[in-house]
Amino acid sequence: MIPRLAHIYILGAVLWTALPAFASEKPALRDLAAAKSKGIGAAVDVKALQNDPVYAQILTQQFNVLTPENALKMDWVQKKRGQFDFRAGDMLADLAQKNGMTFKGHTLVWFRALPEWLTEQTFTKEELKQIMHDHIKTVVTHYKGRVQNWDVVNEAINDDGSYRHCIWYDVIGPEYIELAFRWARAYDPNVLLYYNDYDAEVPNQKSDAIYLMLKDLKAKGVPIDGIGFQAHVRVQNPPNVFEMDKNLKRFAQLGLFTDFTEIDVSIIHDPNRNAIDLWMRQAEVFGNFFKACINNSSCTMAVLWGFTDKYTWKRDFDPSDAPLIFDAAYKPKPAFDVIAGVFNE
Ligand code: XIL
Repeated sequence: MIPRLAHIYILGAVLWTALPAFASEKPALRDLAAAKSKGIGAAVDVKALQNDPVYAQILTQQFNVLTPENALKMDWVQKKRGQFDFRAGDMLADLAQKNGMTFKGHTLVWFRALPEWLTEQTFTKEELKQIMHDHIKTVVTHYKGRVQNWDVVNEAINDDGSYRHCIWYDVIGPEYIELAFRWARAYDPNVLLYYNDYDAEVPNQKSDAIYLMLKDLKAKGVPIDGIGFQAHVRVQNPPNVFEMDKNLKRFAQLGLFTDFTEIDVSIIHDPNRNAIDLWMRQAEVFGNFFKACINNSSCTMAVLWGFTDKYTWKRDFDPSDAPLIFDAAYKPKPAFDVIAGVFNE
């Protein structure tokens, strides 16, 4: 006869494997984050949201910040010149509002995700300024009061600290950055305005240049409220925690919020290490971003770039990558528990 206690364990194990993750007894990350006055967010894939009910359920259960992975980029919103399509963005804004989530806008001015009408013609400086102005005006006005913070300019600086060549820089010049922030502020005086970039989590040539640029812009009175560190990192080569803390603090001293905006921790297949080992290491890296956020009052939120390995953009590059905190079957990975543990400390 099987003892009673063992029955309970067996039943527990069966339930554990049979039930999707969202039905687990674990406290929701968003509640743990809120108890520390922090946001925990996820970028949302519109197709997944529409076709996969488990996706929607976990999203709203676990996160208190939502940002569109692609639905507010220029090629989506203004596919035809002067014709704006806010259907997907509005659907996400409504979902966020219904579920008490902050809606983060991503992104107004970027060198990628540009519509063909823009890239396949040449424009004069004045024409391009007008195009940028009209885009910012229409999008920011549309979401006024509904978006709490905007990534105004995304990825403007190269690894070596120089300005990235792109249509905006090449035609308008470096002042496109300043203009973008000023116009965003003009059409929503209350929304928080961020500069967002990758590989800038620790002091290096790139983050040094961003630091000097933002310092200079702040000194000129350009309305910038925060910096977003994307944090697309690899488990084999994560940012050093002390360096990261130092970096957050120097940007905070400029009077900026310092958020993590697109966290994922790529696992490149490593024949010398088993999967569990890599998942544990990944969990530690996730935990370090959340520790850095909790330890710095300048960090308002940490946003993941997705939440399940099922739909991560990283699988476009490597189908075996698994950079998020739920696996492709929606089971919480060790990173989920480590983040919860960090909030509970
Ligand atoms: C990525 C999306 O995740 C993909 O679906 C899309 O094909 C390309 O863009 N930095 C950013 C994000 O700021 O907007 C990018 O998102 C990932 C890198």
